[in-house]
Amino acid sequence: MRIILLGAPGAGKGTVAKALLEFDGSVQISTGDILRNAVKAGTDLGMKAQGYMGRGELVPDDLIMEIVESRLQEPDCDRGFIFDGFPRTIPQAEALKTLFQRLHLKLDLVVNLDVPKDVILDRLTTRRTCSNPDCQEIYNIKSKPPTEDGKCKRCGSPVIQRDDETEEAITKRLETYNQKTAPLIDFYEKEGLLKTIASTRSEEIVSAIRRELRSG
Ligand code: AP5
Repeated sequence: MRIILLGAPGAGKGTVAKALLEFDGSVQISTGDILRNAVKAGTDLGMKAQGYMGRGELVPDDLIMEIVESRLQEPDCDRGFIFDGFPRTIPQAEALKTLFQRLHLKLDLVVNLDVPKDVILDRLTTRRTCSNPDCQEIYNIKSKPPTEDGKCKRCGSPVIQRDDETEEAITKRLETYNQKTAPLIDFYEKEGLLKTIASTRSEEIVSAIRRELRSG
């Protein structure tokens, strides 16, 4: 499958992507995870991205397109991929369309995860993430807690709260989503690729996506 997961911060894109990977060996391409790893490793990309991320703003489109283009050339992408958190602006979506034409790739589906705002706010303040860059399992102190001593159940690394989980950054991320990313819903509707799923249950969302892919 080659799909895009759209949705506000905290809508559950990462959680759903990880569940979908189990079915057909596709890879998850999360621009947020790639950027956080770059920040942690102190690379040139990380240094450029850090300020924007901490403030809850978007990283400039040209940096993001460089990341995506190089990631798509890696051999594991031949198995299919799930974009989580990309594209996030109309210019990114247009650049992706051009890139796909150049690489002779076709997008199967764009899923819009529609989750009520109060649920989103609650999830963002209670999320925890595995600190191991090779794992990055997503937890939630209410719905999916880590071990009692705050470790990842998969790899045993400490589970942490992200740097952009302050109240100020969360508010800014939601504002940025409404201004810059929500217009992609119309963009992909016009492309005939959009499926909106209004649910707060990950299993229900995963089943709906699989049904849609089978019928397409
Ligand atoms: P990114 O990492 O993409 O963050 P985001 O879009 O804000 O999305 P989140 O990761 O916060 O939420 P999610 O929808 O994946 O939800 P999750 O599954 O974790 O981006 C971070 C930053 O990087 C951006 O602000 C920007 O600066 C930069 N960036 C990244 N990509 C960029 C791009 N393309 N262009 C420019 N800049 C870019 O779930 C949330 C919580 O809810 C978890 O605790 C989870 O356990 C829980 N949960 C999920 N589903 C359920 C459920 N069904 N029931 C109960 N709990 C649930």
